[in-house]
Amino acid sequence: MIQELLCAAIIMAGADAAFGRTFAGTAAYPQTFVDEFNPLKYTGNLGPYSQRPGVGISPDVPAGCKVEQVVLFARHGERYPTPNEVTAQEKLLSKLNKWAPKKGFVGSLTFLNKYKYFLPNEGYANLEIPSGPYSGLAGSFQFGAEFAGKYGDLWNDEVLPLFSDDFERDLETARAFGQGFLGFNYSTSAAINTYPSFETCDAKKWTTCDIKSNSSGFPANNLRYPAFEVAALRLNEENHLKLTVDDVYTLLALGSYEISATGSSPWVDVFTTEEWLAFQYSYDAYFDCYFGSQSPRAKAVGSLFVNATAELLKKGPKDSLALALVFGHDVDLTAILAAMDLATPSRKIDPKTISFNNNFRLTDVAPMGARFVIERLSCKAPGLTNDTNLVGMTNSTTPLWNSNWTSPDSNFTDWYPNITMTNSTSASNGSMWNGTMWNSTMSNGTMSNSTWSNGTSGTNSSSSSNSTSSGGASWSANVTETTFIRFVLNDAVVPWDHGYDGPGFSVSLEKFLEVVDKQVEAADYETVCGTKPEPLTFFTKYNTTTGMDYDTHPIPFQAGQY
Ligand SMILES: *[C@@H]1O[C@H](CO)[C@@H](O)[C@H](O)[C@H]1NC(C)=O
Ligand SMILES: *[C@@H]1O[C@H](CO)[C@@H](O)[C@H](O)[C@H]1NC(C)=O
Ligand SMILES: *[C@@H]1O[C@H](CO)[C@@H](O)[C@H](O)[C@H]1NC(C)=O
Ligand SMILES: *[C@@H]1O[C@H](CO)[C@@H](O)[C@H](O)[C@H]1NC(C)=O
Ligand SMILES: *[C@@H]1O[C@H](CO)[C@@H](O)[C@H](O)[C@H]1NC(C)=O
Ligand SMILES: *[C@@H]1O[C@H](CO)[C@@H](O)[C@H](O)[C@H]1NC(C)=O
Ligand SMILES: *[C@@H]1O[C@H](CO)[C@@H](O)[C@H](O)[C@H]1NC(C)=O
Ligand SMILES: *[C@@H]1O[C@H](CO)[C@@H](O)[C@H](O)[C@H]1NC(C)=O
Ligand SMILES: *[C@@H]1O[C@H](CO)[C@@H](O)[C@H](O)[C@H]1NC(C)=O
Ligand SMILES: *[C@@H]1O[C@H](CO)[C@@H](O)[C@H](O)[C@H]1NC(C)=O
Ligand SMILES: *[C@@H]1O[C@H](CO)[C@@H](O)[C@H](O)[C@H]1NC(C)=O
Ligand SMILES: *[C@@H]1O[C@H](CO)[C@@H](O)[C@H](O)[C@H]1NC(C)=O
Repeated sequence: MIQELLCAAIIMAGADAAFGRTFAGTAAYPQTFVDEFNPLKYTGNLGPYSQRPGVGISPDVPAGCKVEQVVLFARHGERYPTPNEVTAQEKLLSKLNKWAPKKGFVGSLTFLNKYKYFLPNEGYANLEIPSGPYSGLAGSFQFGAEFAGKYGDLWNDEVLPLFSDDFERDLETARAFGQGFLGFNYSTSAAINTYPSFETCDAKKWTTCDIKSNSSGFPANNLRYPAFEVAALRLNEENHLKLTVDDVYTLLALGSYEISATGSSPWVDVFTTEEWLAFQYSYDAYFDCYFGSQSPRAKAVGSLFVNATAELLKKGPKDSLALALVFGHDVDLTAILAAMDLATPSRKIDPKTISFNNNFRLTDVAPMGARFVIERLSCKAPGLTNDTNLVGMTNSTTPLWNSNWTSPDSNFTDWYPNITMTNSTSASNGSMWNGTMWNSTMSNGTMSNSTWSNGTSGTNSSSSSNSTSSGGASWSANVTETTFIRFVLNDAVVPWDHGYDGPGFSVSLEKFLEVVDKQVEAADYETVCGTKPEPLTFFTKYNTTTGMDYDTHPIPFQAGQY
């Protein structure tokens, strides 16, 4: 038997096949998706930035389109824990020290014998992490530089406002981003502005979820699942400790922050996948219930920002900011998304039971450094459509090619007419389809009036097709370029359930405005918050001075707000 195995091994080694299939050439695409368990995806809103897994849509600008306006809402970069969290974590670590077995910790906690809490200085609580692989300051700078690579041409060399609320960490993020985005023009061209928080709603009801918060005011995450108890029992037995369920929760949070602060954490391996998953779910549910789709309050406060954004995008880059760059908190971001009904759970999240397939993970939505980008696109390309009248068109057996063309045509964009798919049978400027593809040298007059009928056409001849209008859909020339809106959350394009029939699965501006209007109305700020909404005005009223571009004061001990 051993002989045979050896023999087989030698043959395989000889064939260079010991480590898998080997063929000439290199595979262009990996067959592995190793991120199925990536610790970063189990850190709630406490861990470092990680991209949102997409649905397969390229984040590149769709062919035939150009970006003409961008709204960014970014969460601050990776930061240290809040003072309260620091206190809880230090207290727990000193408890563990007190409980330490005489001969030292063993097993999964052996590392504790030489462990040092990651916070360099108590004063750093709340602040951006200045160094390390997941540094918040470095990450924000890099994000700004990358943003310039993608959208930098929208900056017109004039003073560029950057909006932050007045939290030190948000200001620091805005400044680092600005320096990355504007490079050496930062000191003269950036105008850091602060905006008043729109999280001021005094709602009677924070959530429609069936959960109780043990604190008045800002609700705490007190969701504790059986997995935490399992972990406590295991660790207690191993090293004779007295950990509680809350302690386990605190350690999972500590581990998440430690990854942000130093790049890794020994606590990752102390807990099982089930335990990390429970921790993550507690954050998914906590956020969705209090700051997301199951919170009337979140929808109300988010609607203020969404309303102001809609106004901006409606005006367009000529009459408003081409680059609207806003920095704030995770709860603002989830409120905005809830108000827009974008990237919210596809199934209701039940805080009492861990469940799957709701397409919602807070680490995909609001990790540290989260960024939500709304692009206003100007497109010559036609959109997609789900008009069934057009199915026949794709069923044509005739190649879409005019034999008079010399191939290939390098002026590819000319192939995108200034049209949108319509269902119209009275194409006012004539139907574009006439056995040939539109090109921009065709004048208004040369397009024929024939409309698509029963799907067999594709040539200029009349033998098999109806060349007269008979109720079919047509491509009708629309003289102006068409405007679409697209959403990119944490580097992934998010198609909007309310409509995505534009290029790159974008939605037409009209549809966007129509839906958003309804959403804002449904959020009903006045009823939920008990006061009339005060529309956000900072996109139109801002300073163009550079006075806040750098800190004018030493950063205070544990700076939260200023
Ligand atoms: C596409 O079809 C769905 C389902 O019939 C409909 O709800 C949606 O509005 C349609 N979208 C467009 C752009 O017509
Ligand atoms: C297209 O026209 C047909 C017939 O007039 C109509 O039934 C259908 O709803 C229209 N589709 C869209 C997307 O407007
Ligand atoms: C495409 O055409 C064939 C032949 O005419 C027909 O059988 C088929 O149903 C058509 N498919 C669609 C999606 O229209
Ligand atoms: C190609 O050009 C010739 C001459 O201009 C014209 O008669 C013919 O209809 C054209 N063919 C197509 C498919 O447009
Ligand atoms: C592409 O466009 C340029 C400038 O508009 C023109 O000179 C050239 O002939 C075009 N090329 C083709 C293949 O149409
Ligand atoms: C298109 O052609 C039909 C039939 O020839 C005609 O009745 C209709 O008025 C024409 N439409 C336009 C916009 O020219
Ligand atoms: C479209 O077809 C009609 C006849 O079917 C023809 O008279 C006209 O020249 C064609 N137009 C183009 C742009 O090919
Ligand atoms: C564009 O259309 C016009 C009119 O049909 C034709 O004369 C011209 O050759 C076309 N150009 C290309 C690049 O196909
Ligand atoms: C196309 O023709 C229509 C009707 O003749 C006219 O109103 C429109 O201005 C024309 N558009 C262009 C771009 O020439
Ligand atoms: C297209 O429509 C015409 C008349 O409207 C009809 O005679 C012909 O059979 C239809 N062709 C197909 C493939 O359905
Ligand atoms: C299409 O759009 C371009 C600019 O984007 C414009 O120059 C051209 O005149 C438009 N053509 C038509 C037919 O509207
Ligand atoms: C939405 O914006 C409009 C225009 O700026 C304003 O009149 C309206 O009060 C705003 N509504 C809300 C709910 O913010």
